[in-house]
Amino acid sequence: MSTIKVETSPIPGQKPGTSGLRKKTHVFMGPHFLENYVQSIFDGIGGVVGKTLVVGGDGRYFNERAIQVILRMMAANGAARAIVGQSGILSTPAASHLIRKRGTDGGLILSASHNPGGPDEDFGLKYNGPNGGPASEGVTNRIYARTTEITSYMISEAQDIDLGTIGTETLGHMTIEVIDPVTDYAALMEELFDFDAIKALLSSGFSLRFDAMHAVTGPYAKAILEETLGAAPGSVVNGTPLPDFGGGHPDPNPIWAKDLMDLMMSPDAPDFGAASDGDGDRNMIVGKGCYITPSDSLAVLAANAHLAPAYKDGLAGVARSMPTSAAVDRVAEKMGIDVFETPTGWKFFGTLLDAGRATLCGEESAGTGSNHVREKDGLWAVLLWLNVLAETKQSVARLMSDHWARYGRNYYSRHDYEAVDSDMANGLVDSMRARLGDMAGQTAGGLKITGADEFSYTDPVDGSVSKNQGIRIYFEGGGRAVFRLSGTGTEGATIRVYLERLEIDPAGMDRDPQEALGPIIAAAEELSRVRSETGREGPDVIT
Ligand code: G6P
Ligand code: ZN
Repeated sequence: MSTIKVETSPIPGQKPGTSGLRKKTHVFMGPHFLENYVQSIFDGIGGVVGKTLVVGGDGRYFNERAIQVILRMMAANGAARAIVGQSGILSTPAASHLIRKRGTDGGLILSASHNPGGPDEDFGLKYNGPNGGPASEGVTNRIYARTTEITSYMISEAQDIDLGTIGTETLGHMTIEVIDPVTDYAALMEELFDFDAIKALLSSGFSLRFDAMHAVTGPYAKAILEETLGAAPGSVVNGTPLPDFGGGHPDPNPIWAKDLMDLMMSPDAPDFGAASDGDGDRNMIVGKGCYITPSDSLAVLAANAHLAPAYKDGLAGVARSMPTSAAVDRVAEKMGIDVFETPTGWKFFGTLLDAGRATLCGEESAGTGSNHVREKDGLWAVLLWLNVLAETKQSVARLMSDHWARYGRNYYSRHDYEAVDSDMANGLVDSMRARLGDMAGQTAGGLKITGADEFSYTDPVDGSVSKNQGIRIYFEGGGRAVFRLSGTGTEGATIRVYLERLEIDPAGMDRDPQEALGPIIAAAEELSRVRSETGREGPDVIT
């Protein structure tokens, strides 16, 4: 093996977003693009000499090619060892677990999460630190700074590594361990949950469908749900990971997981439905005729987690991203535990989990997780739900309605306006920011505004400050509208409008969320003019 130093120059646009760097695949495949970014990661974390990194991805188009490049660059930069999932496959939570279990110096995860894959779609890469979680803002900023000043990268000249065979290979002085991507993760799940109780539930006639959306969770779900827990063969659908996710959009929400939604709303619905995204960290939970919003799922899991062995001693605290509904706050209040409100992005939960201040975390964007890893975890959420259902012996719908009766219902919806011209989107947010100081006391859509601000977060553990994390407007009666620009898109800007209202009247628990939120939706439009400015009749996506 010979090592070469390749001259390069900074490529604009390598600033990581909410979760690593995401770009159109052809951009990532462009000359030096991947190499510049990988070298900047290495430089940004103080080099990789003598280090061990976990490497794997969600199997999307360019996954294996990119891993071959990364391995050659690791070897050339002096890394000691790479732990790689067979065929380059590792779900994001499984990678996080491996980093922790093997005590590595972090890992590189190749994924654009729930974004579509293929030559004309999206690709992504992110670095996770030794705690198994996405790089902190500080590390991310250092990596970005390197991308703007890079002049060369190191790469070795070598044949491709055989990633299809489990075993150990060498590349120069570096050892490459190709491992089964499922084994360690499945063992962790068995430690956390009462598999016997779930087996008993599934053998009692309880039926489920898990839609892996042709993405990474297929092999994990088949091994755990069907082969270990005894779900009927065929319960896992779309279970073979495909480079283009079968042409679909691997995002587990009612729009992109429509087949599952249609089934769950039909007379043939099984007792439980779930789906996960491209890289296996998101989840959607659906009961018979009953969709559970991610915010409600977090609240129900917080209220019932003690029924699973891993959480039997209770929760240290809970954390949610700011735009996530306050449903979990009401549970925390009754339990007398802390609730933390963080900016959007799983990385912000890391310090709280590491410090033992929070046990469960969740986001409105279909993310739920706990201190077992440092990423959100789709299958983990499914298994915790199954464990809770096995213990309570209730249907999903009943568990949810009992929850609302006890804690009240936070009606919630998110409206997305996608591929908006970036200048227009920024202008819209700037205009609201400029008016924030005068809003309190005014009315919009017939609702009185009680407060308005822009969310700024000071991490209670490390003291770091993150500003401009979303515009918040509060209304009389406990309603709220939040506006922020997505940090994960690859085309123009996506404006997200998050709408919420608390209902405590027992007679008002069964309304259509869009109708129950009508006044807040009207007020949000009056204040932002998002529809009139973008010239759209309504949002592109409603979740
Ligand atoms: C990724 C992150 C999440 C985040 C989500 C939405 O999935 O891991 O933590 O909530 O993106 O981010 P966005 O900036 O698009 O709203
Ligand atoms: Zn994801």
